[in-house]
Amino acid sequence: MNTRQIPDSNRDSIALVTGANNGIGLELTRRLLGEGWQVAVLIRSNFADGDEIVQSALREGRLRIYRAELTDFAQLRAALERIKQEEPKLDVVFNNAGGSLAELSFSPQGREMHYELQTVVPYIVYRELKDLLLRGSLRTVIGTSSNAFNFVKTFDPDKLPHPSTFKQLTGAYAESKLALSLWTRALASREASDGIKLRSADPGPNNTVRKGKKSGLPFPVNYLMRFFPGPAQGASRLYEAAFGPYRDKAGVLIDKKGIVDLRFAEHAQRVLDNVDRVYREEFAAPKKTSNKGSLV
Ligand SMILES: NC(=O)c1ccc[n+]([C@@H]2O[C@H](COP(=O)([O-])OP(=O)(O)OC[C@H]3O[C@@H](n4cnc5c(N)ncnc54)[C@H](OP(=O)(O)O)[C@@H]3O)[C@@H](O)[C@H]2O)c1
Repeated sequence: MNTRQIPDSNRDSIALVTGANNGIGLELTRRLLGEGWQVAVLIRSNFADGDEIVQSALREGRLRIYRAELTDFAQLRAALERIKQEEPKLDVVFNNAGGSLAELSFSPQGREMHYELQTVVPYIVYRELKDLLLRGSLRTVIGTSSNAFNFVKTFDPDKLPHPSTFKQLTGAYAESKLALSLWTRALASREASDGIKLRSADPGPNNTVRKGKKSGLPFPVNYLMRFFPGPAQGASRLYEAAFGPYRDKAGVLIDKKGIVDLRFAEHAQRVLDNVDRVYREEFAAPKKTSNKGSLV
């Protein structure tokens, strides 16, 4: 893209996108860059070569890369420290990294991988970057959820770190997305008093199949995925969740039809207590022992 085409209005706005190098996160990043935003990306692998929007934004310094395997707290901590040192503020954070895995696996900290990546890590990212958001103007955080949780039949927040069974997509993946939307709801009103709006959004079905990547989707969904729209659809749903008609709402889950009724809402505070305990005891405590008290 020619820099002369970039609108001036967004030049000072900064977004952070996790999982920005592929799929929905990539399309969202390209859209924001195309609209003149600066984008800080928290990614574990490279952007593909040959994407002119990405490459020219890198050259201009409007796209800044921070790298981490997000489920490894040592890597995550180092990347977040760099972001805090190098970014002047953040206007919006998109917690997008995720996906359905093929089998049961555990993070370096010992918790089930979907739960760690899609429930715990977005909370840590938020807590650590809150001060940067307070320096921004939009003060908006969007977590990427999924309507896969409509398949969840029973929900016990205390079992999510160590599930006894595993089902692709409708098991730990779906539960971790529900848990993300639940802590978002439980925390939102308190954070709104600081002017920060936390929401979650379902990007809907998107074809993000990648050659050479093991699918974590059950056969029928994996087959049907080729008929789904491309990831620009999901990017646009996340974008709308941040800037569209619900931009002043806090705590809600948004899908293509609007605000979604959250199932198992009675467990929201328990989910929040659990992720906050992990944050305080395993993430914040090793580096800060003094004044970072419990939020919940
Ligand atoms: N596609 C859909 O139909 C759909 C529907 C509902 C919700 N979602 C959600 O939308 C989000 C984006 O998914 P997508 O479909 O765009 O999938 P994708 O194309 O596979 O992109 C996922 C992104 O997340 C990154 N990521 C995954 N695990 C990571 C980790 N442990 N550490 C750091 N980065 C990690 C990936 O990095 P690498 O490139 O290194 O793998 C990639 O950049 C996910 O949260 C997904 O659950 C997708």
